Amino acid sequence: MGKIIAFANQKGGIGKTTSAINVAACIAECGKKVLVVDCDPQGNCTSGFGINKKSLRFTSYDLLVGRVGAQDAMIRTEFEGISVIPANISLAGAEFELVELDNRAYRLKNELDKVKDEFDYIVIDCPPSLGILTINALGASDGVVIPMQCEYFALEGLSQLMMTIRKTKELYNANLEIAGILITMYNGRLNLSTQVLKELKKYYADKILSEPIPRSVRISEAPSHGLPINYYDKNGKSAKAYLAVAKELMTRI
Ligand SMILES: Nc1ncnc2c1ncn2[C@@H]1O[C@H](COP(=O)(O)OP(=O)(O)O)[C@@H](O)[C@H]1O
Ligand SMILES: [Mg+2]
Repeated sequence: MGKIIAFANQKGGIGKTTSAINVAACIAECGKKVLVVDCDPQGNCTSGFGINKKSLRFTSYDLLVGRVGAQDAMIRTEFEGISVIPANISLAGAEFELVELDNRAYRLKNELDKVKDEFDYIVIDCPPSLGILTINALGASDGVVIPMQCEYFALEGLSQLMMTIRKTKELYNANLEIAGILITMYNGRLNLSTQVLKELKKYYADKILSEPIPRSVRISEAPSHGLPINYYDKNGKSAKAYLAVAKELMTRI
């Protein structure tokens, strides 16, 4: 049965979407079948796979409000083994509409459960908030990956996020595990980065995934070509780092 992994952090711009795209693509490279669910109204994950956000028949919004099932919402991409349930700005309305609906925290889980068997992994990209969309993602997941940058303020945000995840586990999903903390945009030559990483390891040694993702122009360029990093720059060190992370995650979840 497929395992579900959410990429979550209430901070924006720290590499959630980039990591969801590239980890999913590297899991697929290992011969697995992967479904990616874009749960952010910005739809960056959708366009990162080369899907045009403006001409979507169905999105994760339709899925959450019960207008369509996962089977009809998913698009098979040109990349081997990868299907995507896309999102665009229409998802912004879900936050309000879900308030009125039954089971509002479990709508994604209930829909994904129906297609879970068809995939080895389902990867969910969360918005930069801890609202109902993220609750739905965490409610559906076996594991959550926390991408973060090695910056001073990230340390403060992390303890807050850990508390929220603990709470979510209590309230919505007893199965939820922290699959790992993923260091993104890492620059090993910066003193601050190495210090923050050292500090992180003091508190979360067993949670930190062993391969930090380097800061790289290639990673930031790839989405403008609609390509995951392992298609855009297959032999580069960024693709290798994401592949290592994908493999480590598969042993954890
Ligand atoms: N390892 C990296 N090296 C360089 N740029 C990166 C890297 N990871 C992400 N970025 C860039 O940082 C920005 C924010 O990343 P994104 O994945 O969209 O974050 P989030 O989903 O958390 O908001 C994007 O422009 C992205 O291309
Ligand atoms: Mg994002």
